[in-house]
Amino acid sequence: MQQPNITQILISEDEIQQIVQRMGAEITTHYSSLEKELIVIGLLRGSFIFMADLIREIQAPLVVDFMTVSSYGDGTVSSGDVKIVMDVDSSLEGRDVLLVEDIVDTGRTFAKVVRMINNRKPRSLKTCTFLNKPSARISDVQVDFCGKDIPDEFVVGYGLDYSQRYRELPYVGILQL
Ligand code: IMP
Ligand code: MG
Repeated sequence: MQQPNITQILISEDEIQQIVQRMGAEITTHYSSLEKELIVIGLLRGSFIFMADLIREIQAPLVVDFMTVSSYGDGTVSSGDVKIVMDVDSSLEGRDVLLVEDIVDTGRTFAKVVRMINNRKPRSLKTCTFLNKPSARISDVQVDFCGKDIPDEFVVGYGLDYSQRYRELPYVGILQL
């Protein structure tokens, strides 16, 4: 059933599954010769559903960790003020790290977290996002594994929220604000 304020379903459940399977295969190929388990770090809260699906498509030894950063408050426009609210437990030095985000918009959040993780001297750091809005980019950040490029619309569902709502939708929809 379509929720009020969702004007269009942008990515269906079926397409989400195809995207995640394809990404899992790409990531599996990339990490075919790991020395130690891959550390997969999800940025909370938006990435939690994507993370849960993605790690089950990665055929490589891995451990999971999470980090919470906040940049939006309750609005829909990035403030650029990125704060670390909860850090990872793992020591990242000398480890292969995959950073997982729900969506890269201006790129400020990702750029800041990438800088922070690189300061901890991982053996390697790759970035992964379910959705990408290339036209909204302000900070230059490399995305190594990307689910889908989308237009500069505000989207919700599959973990993505508006004021903490809509995360449970099984599809990605455009929200009429
Ligand atoms: P950035 O710092 O502008 O790249 O913003 C990234 C963060 O903003 C993501 O982790 C999301 O939480 C949030 N965000 C950006 N665009 C959307 C959207 O269309 N829907 C929901 N959240 C979004
Ligand atoms: Mg987020």
